[in-house]
Amino acid sequence: MKSSPFDVIIIGAGAAGMFAAFTAGQRGRRVLLIDHSSKIGEKIRISGGGRCNFTNLHASPAQYLSQNPHFCRSALARYTPQDFLKLLQQHSIRYHEKTLGQLFCDDSAQQIIDMLVSECRDGDVQWSTGTTVNHIEQAPTGRFHLQTSRGLFDTESLIIATGGLSIPQIGATGFGYDVARQFGLRMVEPSPGLVPLAFPAPDWQQYADLSGLSVDAEVSCQKTQFREAILITHKGISGPAILQISSFWKPGQMLSIDLAPHDDLRSRLQERAHSEQLLSNALAEWLPKRFAQLWCDERGINLPLKQLGSKALEKIGEELHHWLVRPAGTVGYKKAEVTLGGVDTRDLSSKTMMANDVPGLFFIGEVVDVTGWLGGYNFQWAWASAHAAGSVA
Ligand code: FDA
Repeated sequence: MKSSPFDVIIIGAGAAGMFAAFTAGQRGRRVLLIDHSSKIGEKIRISGGGRCNFTNLHASPAQYLSQNPHFCRSALARYTPQDFLKLLQQHSIRYHEKTLGQLFCDDSAQQIIDMLVSECRDGDVQWSTGTTVNHIEQAPTGRFHLQTSRGLFDTESLIIATGGLSIPQIGATGFGYDVARQFGLRMVEPSPGLVPLAFPAPDWQQYADLSGLSVDAEVSCQKTQFREAILITHKGISGPAILQISSFWKPGQMLSIDLAPHDDLRSRLQERAHSEQLLSNALAEWLPKRFAQLWCDERGINLPLKQLGSKALEKIGEELHHWLVRPAGTVGYKKAEVTLGGVDTRDLSSKTMMANDVPGLFFIGEVVDVTGWLGGYNFQWAWASAHAAGSVA
């Protein structure tokens, strides 16, 4: 490694950190990239089921949550999904659209890591992995001094790209939040996002037996709704529609689940009001059989449709379109794909990601209070915010 001083030091060699490193390095800046882990880009590697959903063709500020929903606008406009696709083409990485604009590698997420490493090489980026940063201070000159397990480093610009608290088992820490607080930036309280929801064990006991079963549904919380699959798990509910809504759900709130968004069960059941068919058998035409059976048994209404009568069938249809559940909580950071909240955007420049009151200090990626929906939006934020900072740091 070339010795200190550096022009730019980046802490966190994940998606945002590597992208910012090569962007600054290829501008001729002397860049050092530090990570406490010996493995880099671990979240990229495990993302998208090993194929990395690296962007979304429809990425726009509308798919991001933040206390300031406009903050992400500038960076996203200046580095778009198309820009990232050009980079992939230069590296001959093949990809495909799975659904809803979500782009995945044809082969492996490792290709994205290799591409970022190769770009870093072109930018002559220096690496220091397996390195703990113990202390940071800003000298009166404005330069940052870092005390690390590999000695002292000195830099003009410092970029914090250490991500959020999700998946501590692969190295997530609250380091970035501590640095923000140290330099007087405000924080938006972090919480797990894109995360399965749990129910108290006794209430969920019967449904737990259906673990693995998936239903096409529309899930609503307050004014937000998502139509995708929901998945029954041992502890509660998951699947894309639940992960999406979890970022909007607050403890104590109810969710309304439409179990048959593709049909009108009120009229379907009415049409059979004189039938001898058991309710669960009728419902099995629109819902997974085991789910229909349990849903009816739980309510003690698994009777012939004729016996239930028209009024009751109307009510049953209505309930299936508005299954009301109140989760006890999320399953926490161990399973959350992202962390909501983070460094308060009021204290950052939306053009450069630099702290308004600390010249030379930048925050990018998930550590910032900008969180995307499920579907490639979080990586697009990592690339775009890294591009904004790496272009000026
Ligand atoms: P990221 O977490 O990637 O990197 C942070 C880096 O900082 C890590 O290398 C870490 O080791 C390092 N670090 C942490 N603390 C440190 C410390 N104290 N000192 C030094 N280094 C430190 N998004 C998406 O758009 N499409 C997808 O397919 C998926 N899939 C997905 C699956 C799973 C299982 C998870 C958990 C997450 C996703 N995501 C996703 C979300 C996406 O992975 C995430 O938003 C980005 O990786 C965030 O990039 P960052 O670079 O900001 O943080």
